[in-house]
Amino acid sequence: MNRLQDKVAIITGAANGIGFEAARKFGNEGAKVIIADFDEESGLESEKALREEGLSVRFVQVNVANRDSVNTMVEKALAEYGRIDILINNAGITKDAMLAKMTLEQFQQVLDVNLTGVFNCTQAVLPFLIEQGKGKIVNTSSVTGTYGNVGQTNYAAAKAGLIGMTKTWAKELGRKGINVNAVAPGFTATAMVSAMPDKVIDKMKAMVPMQRLGTPEDIANAYLFLSSDESDYVNGHVLHVDGGIMM
Ligand code: CAA
Ligand code: NAI
Repeated sequence: MNRLQDKVAIITGAANGIGFEAARKFGNEGAKVIIADFDEESGLESEKALREEGLSVRFVQVNVANRDSVNTMVEKALAEYGRIDILINNAGITKDAMLAKMTLEQFQQVLDVNLTGVFNCTQAVLPFLIEQGKGKIVNTSSVTGTYGNVGQTNYAAAKAGLIGMTKTWAKELGRKGINVNAVAPGFTATAMVSAMPDKVIDKMKAMVPMQRLGTPEDIANAYLFLSSDESDYVNGHVLHVDGGIMM
């Protein structure tokens, strides 16, 4: 399959979880992938594992919350592969606490990574996408961005904010040949969810019509569609991949 033949994709947060699965999927579809992640140890392991599978990937360390770090990452991506076609804004963190207990630091850290980080990365790649007259940007929202979630004031605010940014950028950039869409995953089996109390995971599964957690591949499939030519007329859309929680 060559749905992304010779495209260059930056996937943030691709050292682990959903992003890692996306890097593998994109690589198998012919893309050259920058694994852009804060976690150096997992990033290098992921690079090694995917190269052993014959895929074209390169790990570049980045803190998406830091603009200098993001600009350096984009320079390294260009030095490695010469162009950028796709940006998957997948990096994210949680710092859950009930509103009464949430510190300003917990609130701010999640906004810095999950919302400002997406702004930083998108601004950094934008001139190159505009110059090419074509590009794909995919933001990772969450079911909790539209549904809310106990203990996630910070995270839900960031993920809802991403939907507003996605629609704004779709309106600004459509005329430049750039599609901007979001994927809103439901609860997906990665380290982020396994950190939750078991009783909460069981409650979450029970409210999913499909009665299971998502897999990283379920979400990576949506990233792929929104990054391929097959979605050239899809713009400003929020694709819910959550087994039917939001409908
Ligand atoms: N729905 C309704 N009530 C809930 C609840 C839920 N999902 N979760 C907790 N509560 C209730 C508890 O039953 C408890 O009620 P009582 O006071 O009546 O006993 C009250 O809220 C306080 O809960 P805790 O005792 O657990 O309070 P805590 O301060 O020790 O911990 C917490 C609070 C950190 C938020 C913890 O409950 C927690 O981790 N919850 C899970 C939060 C969550 O769903 N995170 C999602 C992570 S995955 C992700 O973010 C990916 C994504 O996009 C979906
Ligand atoms: P994960 O925790 O497995 O992976 C997140 C990756 O982001 C990690 O590799 C981490 O090192 C990286 N990262 C964190 N902060 C960073 C920073 N400042 N700069 C660069 N990289 C950073 O999480 P998962 O589950 O794979 O999540 C991926 C995305 O999907 C996140 O945006 C998350 O909010 C979102 N999401 C996840 C859901 C789930 O249930 N797992 C549900 C809905 C959305």
